[in-house]
Amino acid sequence: MKATQQLKDEHEGIKIMLSIMEKISNDLEKGKDMNMEHYAKIIEFIKGFADKCHHGKEEDILFPAMINHGIPKEGGPIAVMLNEHQLGRGYIKSLSRAFEEFKDGNKLAINNIISSSMNYVELLRNHIEKENNVLFMLADKALNETEQSKIFDAFEKLEVEKIGIGKHEEYHHLLKELKKVFIYIKKEVYYENKIDFNYFIGNDVCLTC
Ligand SMILES: [Fe+2]
Ligand SMILES: [Fe+2]
Repeated sequence: MKATQQLKDEHEGIKIMLSIMEKISNDLEKGKDMNMEHYAKIIEFIKGFADKCHHGKEEDILFPAMINHGIPKEGGPIAVMLNEHQLGRGYIKSLSRAFEEFKDGNKLAINNIISSSMNYVELLRNHIEKENNVLFMLADKALNETEQSKIFDAFEKLEVEKIGIGKHEEYHHLLKELKKVFIYIKKEVYYENKIDFNYFIGNDVCLTC
């Protein structure tokens, strides 16, 4: 498998989680109660899987390889992607803080939970589209098969070093568990957000880390 294909597959898992977050935010806005256990796991997923693992692979391995092949670090798509990762981290921080406050009894923190999570959803959806349609195409042009395969191996190593053995299965299980929430999301949401329907419909969600 090409390294960029592995990242695209991970995007599909992240997009499912973004739709779960959107659904929960809409429910919270309507005054529904929050399932705290689910929400804690969602935050864990976006911190561990989307940021540490997935963005880690891009920042530590793919982008430096692209820069080595003449794609500029400054003033181009790589700089935009790095900046968006940072923005995303800011939203995750606000979301985590608001969630802790909410757990401590501050019911007003729900407004920050909703706004931070929707900011994150909007940012990441656009970010993923840019990577799938612009950045990875640039990478595929710049990196030959041998280089892609080296990057792929480095991704496997990063997984073990950054998130540890066994996390793959844990995230895999988490997405499956959250299907309970996602199952109520209309089919149109998949199409609107270009989520690969087959990816989710199968019994197993194919995540690589
Ligand atoms: Fe990214
Ligand atoms: Fe990405």
